[in-house]
Amino acid sequence: MKKFPKKRIMITGAGSGLGRAISLEFAKLGWNICVSDINLERADETLSMIKKEGGKGFSYLCDVTKPDQIETMADHLRAQWGGVDVIVNNAGVAAAGFMEKIPLETWDWIIDINLKSVIYGCRTFIPLLAEQGRGHIVNVASNAGIASLPEMSCYNVTKAAVISLSETLRAELKPKNIGVSVIAPTFFKTNLMEQFTSSDERQKKMADAFFNKSKTTSRDIARHVVKVVKKDKLYAITQLDGKFAWLSKRLTPELYFDIMGWGYKRGIGDKLLGM
Ligand SMILES: NC(=O)c1ccc[n+]([C@@H]2O[C@H](COP(=O)([O-])OP(=O)(O)OC[C@H]3O[C@@H](n4cnc5c(N)ncnc54)[C@H](O)[C@@H]3O)[C@@H](O)[C@H]2O)c1
Repeated sequence: MKKFPKKRIMITGAGSGLGRAISLEFAKLGWNICVSDINLERADETLSMIKKEGGKGFSYLCDVTKPDQIETMADHLRAQWGGVDVIVNNAGVAAAGFMEKIPLETWDWIIDINLKSVIYGCRTFIPLLAEQGRGHIVNVASNAGIASLPEMSCYNVTKAAVISLSETLRAELKPKNIGVSVIAPTFFKTNLMEQFTSSDERQKKMADAFFNKSKTTSRDIARHVVKVVKKDKLYAITQLDGKFAWLSKRLTPELYFDIMGWGYKRGIGDKLLGM
């Protein structure tokens, strides 16, 4: 982390789950944290936790679906800290549904929060990082964008797009000395189910079961975020099941989807989750 002596990081969706855990991990390393969230009360809670650990920073109200609010936040960071070293586009929501039944409003909602927010975050902060001559962008995607599980099309699509955007920027931003990482975890327990959307009770139960069965914590994933920034790595495929999906899809894509279709037709996922 020597290339960032001023240790300034901004994290969206930092009032809960992964964003909070990333805030705490960087605080422990002595970083200044801009704890940004649409829910200021929760952002303040994160800030209190940071301060309890001897860390420093401030909370900041920002709705990531509003590009003007992200621009104002960038101006604020410039005024407050003289710039920022690492930005983490983390805020996100989840939804499930059969393709033909997902309401168009749900598509707009999830694309705005999970994808367009990352586009706004990158395009707003790139000029500032370039002007500084260095910086790092972390985009939080999901293994959903790789594994493409059935009944999750709207979530999968947003996360696959975030992976593609991050891969594109990895090379595009090299000449500007800006690193790019993309985080692709499988399930871990957070408050993601609070805003989870699906019209199907079975899908809600399945998502709940996935989260509850996971042994991974937000802190485990946050440590991967520290590692990719430190080592300037593109990918964080954080868990073993995610690595398996990533490798099998890359090495044998036809077989991967054949097996997925075979298992889905027989309801194997439902059986494994006890549905
Ligand atoms: N939990 C998992 O299993 C999992 C797996 C893979 C990827 N992810 C991704 O991790 C990221 C963090 O999710 P989490 O699991 O910590 O969930 P979470 O619900 O605990 O936290 C999400 C945070 O985003 C904030 N947020 C929502 N809409 C916002 C908006 N418009 N503007 C600003 N902030 C907003 C919420 O207030 C909340 O604090 C998401 O992008 C999610 O897709 C989570």
